[in-house]
Amino acid sequence: MSGKVTINDVGPRDGLQNQPVQLSPEERVELIRALLKAGVEHIEAGSFVSPRAVPAMVGTDQVLAALDSEQGDFSVLVPNMKGYELARDAGAKCVAMVLYATEGMARANVNMGRAEAEQVMEQILQKAATDGVRVLATIAVSWECPFDGPVAAETVTDIARRCIRLGADQVVLADSIGAANPQQVRVLTTMLINELGAENLACHFHDTRAMGLANVFAALESGIRSFDASISGLGGCPFAPGASGNVATEDVVMMLGQMGYDTGIDLQELLNASRLAGTLTNNAPGGRAKAWLDRNYKRQISKSDQARA
Ligand code: COA
Ligand code: ZN
Repeated sequence: MSGKVTINDVGPRDGLQNQPVQLSPEERVELIRALLKAGVEHIEAGSFVSPRAVPAMVGTDQVLAALDSEQGDFSVLVPNMKGYELARDAGAKCVAMVLYATEGMARANVNMGRAEAEQVMEQILQKAATDGVRVLATIAVSWECPFDGPVAAETVTDIARRCIRLGADQVVLADSIGAANPQQVRVLTTMLINELGAENLACHFHDTRAMGLANVFAALESGIRSFDASISGLGGCPFAPGASGNVATEDVVMMLGQMGYDTGIDLQELLNASRLAGTLTNNAPGGRAKAWLDRNYKRQISKSDQARA
């Protein structure tokens, strides 16, 4: 097997938004630079959301200002038009807008109904087209919702179809609480690939029930070639009870590499980024393969580590 697989590291947003320790914008930039150094080209750098809802993402404008957009493809999450405008004014070239497969999740996350979130997306897509900003449409709870239970594949297909028709660049199927199993992933991804094409789709898995990597594999087998993952498995959504972190980037990169896929990511450097995530948050579990990776990849002492020592 071979071929290119794109990894989007969402650790600096999904991973950091719910940490007991709140990182400064400078520390967030340090983590993003470590990911860039490892060859991760796509990074969700933060979000423009209510500072009361997610205090950890305050300062995302400073994060963007410190980054060179030539060095990577940075996206930021926006929940509404205010967030979109703040993101655009801060120089964002790509925003991730979240849609919801259930009413319960829409209400808990953004205090809107599902349909309202879709209307907001439509308005954002119109503005983004004239502003030259790309829009990723993430469908939260694509398989199961902590409030409303299992989600029908047809519900997600309907939303995804509308997103692409309205001009979204990509639809990201998010298992926001890590409840999906590989069989369900295979069914939904196959259905959507047949209708929309794999190039318009990505998957986002959490590892709550230890099925994160198995779900990546199921989606890969269906033909998905674009995945979100979070460095060191950081994460857990503050608005989705019981969700643990995303599938760890290092696990996904290791698995894909061993299977002969090209992610363009250097595992050694990625482990340095993972260790940095641990140092900064004091709360980074590391992936499922942490013990094996630690044994097989020696630590490279970075300048910032030396400064800290
Ligand atoms: N960025 C910054 N501030 C924002 C904002 C944004 N995108 N959207 C709204 N606000 C501010 C408003 O100006 C208002 O401020 P004020 O009280 O000082 O006047 C305050 O937030 C409340 O605004 P309101 O429109 O009444 O929103 P709300 O309280 O119903 O909350 C959201 C709705 C969408 C703003 C909020 O739920 C949110 O930010 N959710 C994001 C959740 C998230 O990031 N989830 C992670 C994805 S898994
Ligand atoms: Zn997530």
